[in-house]
Amino acid sequence: MEDKQLRSRQWFGRKGKDGFIYRAWMKNQGFPDHLFEGKPIIGICNTYSELTPCNAHFPALAEAVKRGVWEAGGFPLEFPVMSLGECTLKPTAMLFRNLASMDVEESIRANPLDGVILLCGCDKTTPSLVMGACSVNIPTMVVSGGPMLAGRFKGKKIGTSDLWRFVEDHKTGKMSQEEFVAAEAAMARSPGHCAPMGTASTMAAMVESLGLALPDNATIPAADSRRKRLAHLAGIRMVEMIKENVLMTDILTREAFENAIMVNAALGGSTNFIIHLLAIAGRIGVELNIADFDRLSAKIPLLANVQPSGEHFVEDLFYAGGLPAVMKEMEQFLHKDQLTVNGKTIGENISKAECCDRNLIGTLEAPFKPDSGIAVLKGNLCPDGAVLKPSAATPRLMTHTGKAVVFENIDDLKARIDDPNLDIDEDSVMVLKNVGPKGYPGMPEVGNMQIPEKLLKKGVKDMVRISDGRMSGTGYGTVVLHISPEAAVGGNLALVQNGDLIRLDVPNRSLDLLVEPTVLEQRRMAFESENLGYNRGYAKLFIEHVNQAHEGVDFDFLKGSSGSVVKRDSH
Ligand code: FES
Repeated sequence: MEDKQLRSRQWFGRKGKDGFIYRAWMKNQGFPDHLFEGKPIIGICNTYSELTPCNAHFPALAEAVKRGVWEAGGFPLEFPVMSLGECTLKPTAMLFRNLASMDVEESIRANPLDGVILLCGCDKTTPSLVMGACSVNIPTMVVSGGPMLAGRFKGKKIGTSDLWRFVEDHKTGKMSQEEFVAAEAAMARSPGHCAPMGTASTMAAMVESLGLALPDNATIPAADSRRKRLAHLAGIRMVEMIKENVLMTDILTREAFENAIMVNAALGGSTNFIIHLLAIAGRIGVELNIADFDRLSAKIPLLANVQPSGEHFVEDLFYAGGLPAVMKEMEQFLHKDQLTVNGKTIGENISKAECCDRNLIGTLEAPFKPDSGIAVLKGNLCPDGAVLKPSAATPRLMTHTGKAVVFENIDDLKARIDDPNLDIDEDSVMVLKNVGPKGYPGMPEVGNMQIPEKLLKKGVKDMVRISDGRMSGTGYGTVVLHISPEAAVGGNLALVQNGDLIRLDVPNRSLDLLVEPTVLEQRRMAFESENLGYNRGYAKLFIEHVNQAHEGVDFDFLKGSSGSVVKRDSH
């Protein structure tokens, strides 16, 4: 590509007053004249923040990207965007995913960038950046921050999935307060995002299987020097991608999305994958619907023995061969001719991949578990769909009918869950309403409700739990999530009452409220949505424009792309 075709020349290639203004203030950083004379400008979109601890090592990662860009003859310019720390943001990081995506989209489009490298880590930082970049569509690559090293506590490896067990043990007195606090420091002992195949690693695997990241991006630990090596190589490759004019639309085809869905099934990835992939597809203009996840996952067994569906950690998966080795085992299902950011196809990238530890990566003939992926349920409780992760559920509960124990909202749940007088037993179906996109707002990760203390003490480990919320990618249990339409907009979930019978039938993909239609209609007449009091600001915008779970929880006005052209100048 000649210099005049570079997008950044519309800023720095200008003569007279405009060119002076675009260049002069940039030079206060000490950049010499020749950098503005036709070098490709690579934006490094950085979600570093001390309030997003999973991304706190990103300054060093950005430096590694810059080394690669300089080496290849490009000009790197780093810029910050809104960073979403999963564990700290109230009411939930998901409320802000779309806001961050708007920041990313507008930052890329409005600036003199020829290509962009997205530094992503903690859960929502990947989908928000990819969504925003899709709506611009210039050469783009993701460099993920990498997983933490597994924690070590009392001689055992631990990670985020153990948190749920620690909470239960602490509640029932099996774990002291001192041990509980000691486990905190032992679990998060290195840079990086959560160590199991939670949402962050699911997202890192998603971008690698889509072709948006270099091979091994998903699994190299944050603390491993090969993470910086990958970042350096990404910087080099991005300069080439700009010369080749490889756009996101060249990579993100329908087949690439199908690959990502099948790989996620083999990994036992997070249920959040569905919502984020649907939103990304909506931005790039690929038709995808919730039924695709079930259909494409159905033929894929669980190959990776990684928590929460298995025993090990993402770090271990890297040592066993990483994502390329998993994809190699399932290559007969993949669209191997899909282009990836390194200029090679998926098939070329995995051609030499090898598994070196069968404890970590199974084969199609001898998988880790036969069931994987996502079951998409339909029925009168979820006419537009609901999801369940079979690999994280209890087999005997996959077909179950029980009496509803209803919690009207999260406050009701917290107030009554451990009440010794709560009328509940292990066959009950726990129902949580008003934790959907509009109802909370923001669709938090509260769907894997804790088992009531009195049942925990009896040794109950799992129960059927249903809600319109989400679950942490590190969570597990027989948990039905993402019920659509949600309770807050008058979905049938809003009409469930204590004692109603609910039937879950995962083999037949159904979830039904066994109440006569006439009774439901009477209840519907009495339904009133709760006024949450969000009368201004971003939360008001969110509630007014957010789509339902089966549509990806994006804003109605953000679907699609506005391209990379800016018609007006700034002066
Ligand atoms: Fe950041 Fe889990 S809290 S990835």
